[in-house]
Amino acid sequence: MALELYNDGSHRYLLFQNLVTGEAVQANQVIIVDHGQAALLDPGGEMTFAPLRQALSAYLDPLGLDFVLASHQDPDIISSLDLWLTETSCKIVIPAVWERFISHFTHPGRLEDRVISVPDQGLILSLGDGKLSLLPAHFLHAEGNFSFYDHNSRILFSGDIGANFPHQVLPQPVTKLAEILPAMAPFHHRYMASGKVCRYWVEMVRELEVETLVPQHGRYLQGRKVVDEFLDWLAALECGIDLVGPNLYRLPRMEA
Ligand SMILES: [Fe+2]
Ligand SMILES: [Fe+2]
Repeated sequence: MALELYNDGSHRYLLFQNLVTGEAVQANQVIIVDHGQAALLDPGGEMTFAPLRQALSAYLDPLGLDFVLASHQDPDIISSLDLWLTETSCKIVIPAVWERFISHFTHPGRLEDRVISVPDQGLILSLGDGKLSLLPAHFLHAEGNFSFYDHNSRILFSGDIGANFPHQVLPQPVTKLAEILPAMAPFHHRYMASGKVCRYWVEMVRELEVETLVPQHGRYLQGRKVVDEFLDWLAALECGIDLVGPNLYRLPRMEA
Protein backbone atom coordinates (compact mmCIF):
# COMPACT_ATOMS: atom_id res chain seq x y z
CA MET A 1 0.00 0.00 0.00
CA ALA A 2 0.95 3.63 -0.12
CA LEU A 3 3.66 5.11 2.04
CA GLU A 4 2.70 8.65 2.97
CA LEU A 5 5.95 10.62 2.75
CA TYR A 6 4.36 14.01 3.46
CA ASN A 7 1.03 15.36 4.63
CA ASP A 8 0.44 18.90 5.90
CA GLY A 9 -3.35 18.65 5.72
CA SER A 10 -3.73 20.12 2.26
CA HIS A 11 -0.74 18.64 0.44
CA ARG A 12 0.00 14.92 0.37
CA TYR A 13 2.82 12.90 -1.19
CA LEU A 14 2.18 9.17 -1.58
CA LEU A 15 4.63 6.51 -2.71
CA PHE A 16 3.71 3.07 -4.10
CA GLN A 17 6.52 0.52 -4.20
CA ASN A 18 4.99 -2.88 -4.64
CA LEU A 19 2.20 -2.68 -7.20
CA VAL A 20 4.22 -4.58 -9.80
CA THR A 21 5.40 -8.03 -8.80
CA GLY A 22 6.68 -11.07 -10.66
CA GLU A 23 8.73 -10.83 -13.81
CA ALA A 24 8.47 -7.08 -14.37
CA VAL A 25 11.17 -4.85 -12.92
CA GLN A 26 10.14 -3.28 -9.61
CA ALA A 27 9.01 0.31 -10.10
CA ASN A 28 7.83 3.10 -7.80
CA GLN A 29 4.89 5.37 -8.54
CA VAL A 30 3.98 8.63 -6.83
CA ILE A 31 0.74 10.53 -6.36
CA ILE A 32 0.77 14.14 -5.21
CA VAL A 33 -2.52 15.70 -4.12
CA ASP A 34 -2.90 19.41 -3.32
CA HIS A 35 -6.27 21.06 -2.59
CA GLY A 36 -8.12 18.46 -4.66
CA GLN A 37 -5.76 18.56 -7.66
CA ALA A 38 -3.72 15.44 -8.31
CA ALA A 39 -0.65 14.43 -10.28
CA LEU A 40 0.65 10.94 -10.92
CA LEU A 41 4.39 10.50 -11.58
CA ASP A 42 5.75 7.77 -13.87
CA PRO A 43 2.67 5.49 -13.74
CA GLY A 44 4.37 2.52 -15.43
CA GLY A 45 3.00 -0.16 -17.69
CA GLU A 46 -0.29 -1.93 -18.23
CA MET A 47 0.30 -4.30 -15.31
CA THR A 48 0.42 -1.37 -12.90
CA PHE A 49 -2.69 0.34 -14.18
CA ALA A 50 -5.45 -1.61 -12.40
CA PRO A 51 -3.81 -1.73 -8.93
CA LEU A 52 -2.71 1.90 -9.21
CA ARG A 53 -6.15 3.13 -10.22
CA GLN A 54 -7.62 1.12 -7.37
CA ALA A 55 -5.12 2.63 -4.92
CA LEU A 56 -5.79 6.08 -6.31
CA SER A 57 -9.49 5.79 -5.58
CA ALA A 58 -8.71 5.82 -1.84
CA TYR A 59 -7.52 9.43 -2.23
CA LEU A 60 -9.57 10.90 -5.08
CA ASP A 61 -11.97 10.10 -7.86
CA PRO A 62 -9.56 8.70 -10.49
CA LEU A 63 -11.67 10.37 -13.18
CA GLY A 64 -10.58 13.69 -11.71
CA LEU A 65 -6.86 13.01 -12.06
CA ASP A 66 -5.33 16.23 -13.42
CA PHE A 67 -1.85 15.27 -14.60
CA VAL A 68 0.15 12.21 -15.52
CA LEU A 69 3.83 13.16 -15.64
CA ALA A 70 6.29 10.99 -17.56
CA SER A 71 9.97 11.60 -16.89
CA HIS A 72 10.79 9.94 -20.21
CA GLN A 73 9.43 7.48 -22.78
CA ASP A 74 10.39 4.05 -21.45
CA PRO A 75 7.81 1.24 -21.16
CA ASP A 76 8.20 1.06 -17.36
CA ILE A 77 7.38 4.78 -17.27
CA ILE A 78 4.44 5.37 -19.57
CA SER A 79 3.36 2.33 -21.60
CA SER A 80 0.01 2.48 -19.74
CA LEU A 81 -0.60 5.80 -21.52
CA ASP A 82 -3.66 4.66 -23.44
CA LEU A 83 -5.45 3.47 -20.29
CA TRP A 84 -4.89 6.77 -18.44
CA LEU A 85 -6.07 8.70 -21.50
CA THR A 86 -9.27 6.70 -21.83
CA GLU A 87 -10.13 6.15 -18.15
CA THR A 88 -9.36 9.62 -16.79
CA SER A 89 -9.45 13.21 -18.01
CA CYS A 90 -5.77 13.86 -17.24
CA LYS A 91 -3.27 15.85 -19.23
CA ILE A 92 -0.08 13.98 -20.16
CA VAL A 93 3.10 15.90 -19.32
CA ILE A 94 6.00 14.57 -21.38
CA PRO A 95 9.43 15.76 -22.62
CA ALA A 96 8.99 17.56 -25.95
CA VAL A 97 11.53 15.29 -27.64
CA TRP A 98 9.34 12.23 -26.94
CA GLU A 99 5.95 13.69 -27.76
CA ARG A 100 5.63 12.21 -31.24
CA PHE A 101 7.04 8.84 -30.18
CA ILE A 102 4.59 8.14 -27.35
CA SER A 103 1.70 8.10 -29.82
CA HIS A 104 2.79 4.47 -30.42
CA PHE A 105 1.41 3.69 -26.94
CA THR A 106 -2.11 4.86 -27.89
CA HIS A 107 -4.52 5.30 -30.81
CA PRO A 108 -4.80 8.01 -33.47
CA GLY A 109 -6.39 11.21 -32.15
CA ARG A 110 -6.37 10.28 -28.45
CA LEU A 111 -3.52 12.65 -27.58
CA GLU A 112 -5.24 15.65 -29.14
CA ASP A 113 -5.51 18.50 -26.58
CA ARG A 114 -4.24 16.15 -23.86
CA VAL A 115 -0.48 16.85 -23.95
CA ILE A 116 1.69 19.35 -22.11
CA SER A 117 4.99 19.23 -23.92
CA VAL A 118 7.95 20.06 -21.68
CA PRO A 119 10.73 22.04 -23.43
CA ASP A 120 14.36 21.12 -22.79
CA GLN A 121 14.69 23.98 -20.27
CA GLY A 122 11.95 22.51 -18.01
CA LEU A 123 8.78 24.03 -16.56
CA ILE A 124 7.10 24.94 -13.28
CA LEU A 125 3.72 23.23 -13.03
CA SER A 126 1.01 24.47 -10.64
CA LEU A 127 -0.85 21.80 -8.70
CA GLY A 128 -3.57 23.17 -6.41
CA ASP A 129 -1.73 25.75 -4.32
CA GLY A 130 1.56 23.93 -4.78
CA LYS A 131 4.28 23.88 -7.39
CA LEU A 132 6.26 21.15 -9.10
CA SER A 133 9.52 22.03 -10.85
CA LEU A 134 10.27 19.84 -13.84
CA LEU A 135 14.06 19.81 -13.84
CA PRO A 136 16.18 18.96 -16.88
CA ALA A 137 17.80 15.54 -16.48
CA HIS A 138 18.64 14.83 -20.11
CA PHE A 139 20.83 11.81 -20.91
CA LEU A 140 20.27 10.48 -17.36
CA HIS A 141 19.50 8.14 -18.95
CA ALA A 142 17.05 9.12 -21.72
CA GLU A 143 17.95 11.86 -24.21
CA GLY A 144 14.92 13.85 -23.07
CA ASN A 145 14.31 13.38 -19.34
CA PHE A 146 13.06 15.33 -16.31
CA SER A 147 13.16 15.02 -12.52
CA PHE A 148 10.22 16.33 -10.49
CA TYR A 149 10.77 18.54 -7.43
CA ASP A 150 7.81 19.11 -5.14
CA HIS A 151 8.31 22.45 -3.35
CA ASN A 152 5.94 21.77 -0.42
CA SER A 153 7.45 18.48 0.69
CA ARG A 154 10.98 19.13 -0.65
CA ILE A 155 10.90 15.68 -2.19
CA LEU A 156 12.76 15.14 -5.45
CA PHE A 157 11.42 12.36 -7.66
CA SER A 158 14.56 11.60 -9.62
CA GLY A 159 13.29 9.00 -12.11
CA ASP A 160 16.01 6.52 -13.07
CA ILE A 161 18.69 8.63 -11.35
CA GLY A 162 19.36 6.97 -8.01
CA ALA A 163 17.57 3.79 -9.10
CA ASN A 164 18.62 0.82 -7.01
CA PHE A 165 17.73 -2.84 -7.22
CA PRO A 166 17.96 -4.49 -3.80
CA HIS A 167 16.82 -8.12 -3.49
CA GLN A 168 13.82 -6.91 -1.61
CA VAL A 169 12.40 -3.41 -1.69
CA LEU A 170 12.02 -2.35 1.86
CA PRO A 171 9.73 0.50 2.85
CA GLN A 172 12.43 1.73 5.26
CA PRO A 173 14.30 4.67 3.78
CA VAL A 174 18.03 4.60 3.10
CA THR A 175 19.90 6.89 5.50
CA LYS A 176 23.48 5.93 4.58
CA LEU A 177 24.51 5.61 0.96
CA ALA A 178 26.80 2.63 1.67
CA GLU A 179 23.69 0.56 2.51
CA ILE A 180 22.45 0.75 -1.04
CA LEU A 181 25.48 1.48 -3.24
CA PRO A 182 26.11 -2.15 -4.37
CA ALA A 183 22.50 -2.25 -5.63
CA MET A 184 22.83 1.15 -7.29
CA ALA A 185 26.27 1.48 -8.88
CA PRO A 186 26.11 -1.15 -11.69
CA PHE A 187 22.91 0.36 -13.10
CA HIS A 188 24.42 3.84 -13.16
CA HIS A 189 27.68 2.63 -14.75
CA ARG A 190 25.76 1.30 -17.73
CA TYR A 191 22.58 3.36 -18.05
CA MET A 192 23.75 6.91 -17.30
CA ALA A 193 25.27 8.57 -20.37
CA SER A 194 28.38 10.26 -18.91
CA GLY A 195 29.93 11.87 -15.87
CA LYS A 196 29.64 15.28 -17.54
CA VAL A 197 25.83 15.27 -17.47
CA CYS A 198 25.77 13.78 -13.95
CA ARG A 199 27.77 16.79 -12.74
CA TYR A 200 25.49 19.31 -14.51
CA TRP A 201 22.44 17.71 -12.87
CA VAL A 202 24.09 17.64 -9.42
CA GLU A 203 25.05 21.34 -9.64
CA MET A 204 21.44 22.26 -10.49
CA VAL A 205 19.95 20.06 -7.74
CA ARG A 206 22.28 21.55 -5.12
CA GLU A 207 20.43 24.86 -5.58
CA LEU A 208 17.31 23.24 -4.08
CA GLU A 209 16.65 22.06 -0.55
CA VAL A 210 16.08 18.35 -1.09
CA GLU A 211 15.00 16.48 2.05
CA THR A 212 14.07 13.21 0.34
CA LEU A 213 15.04 11.65 -2.97
CA VAL A 214 12.66 9.11 -4.50
CA PRO A 215 13.99 7.18 -7.50
CA GLN A 216 11.69 5.30 -9.87
CA HIS A 217 13.19 1.96 -8.77
CA GLY A 218 14.09 0.68 -5.31
CA ARG A 219 14.44 2.30 -1.92
CA TYR A 220 14.19 6.03 -1.31
CA LEU A 221 16.77 8.25 0.39
CA GLN A 222 15.65 10.28 3.37
CA GLY A 223 17.48 13.21 4.95
CA ARG A 224 19.85 15.91 3.75
CA LYS A 225 22.87 13.87 4.83
CA VAL A 226 22.24 10.88 2.57
CA VAL A 227 20.99 13.08 -0.27
CA ASP A 228 24.29 15.01 -0.11
CA GLU A 229 26.23 11.73 0.00
CA PHE A 230 24.40 10.62 -3.13
CA LEU A 231 25.03 13.92 -4.94
CA ASP A 232 28.74 13.74 -4.07
CA TRP A 233 28.92 10.17 -5.38
CA LEU A 234 27.08 11.04 -8.60
CA ALA A 235 29.24 14.12 -9.23
CA ALA A 236 32.37 11.94 -9.14
CA LEU A 237 30.91 9.07 -11.18
CA GLU A 238 32.40 7.75 -14.40
CA CYS A 239 29.71 6.04 -16.41
CA GLY A 240 28.26 5.32 -19.84
CA ILE A 241 30.50 6.57 -22.63
CA ASP A 242 33.25 7.42 -20.11
CA LEU A 243 33.77 3.69 -19.62
CA VAL A 244 33.42 2.21 -23.10
CA GLY A 245 36.22 1.52 -25.56
CA PRO A 246 36.67 -0.05 -28.98
CA ASN A 247 36.60 -3.56 -27.47
CA LEU A 248 32.82 -3.21 -27.10
CA TYR A 249 32.43 -2.48 -30.80
CA ARG A 250 33.72 -5.65 -32.43
CA LEU A 251 31.94 -7.91 -34.86
CA PRO A 252 30.16 -10.66 -32.91
CA ARG A 253 31.59 -14.23 -32.92
CA MET A 254 28.96 -15.97 -30.84
CA GLU A 255 26.03 -17.82 -32.37
CA ALA A 256 22.62 -18.04 -30.74
FE1 LIG B 1 14.27 4.49 -18.12
FE1 LIG C 1 13.12 2.98 -15.05
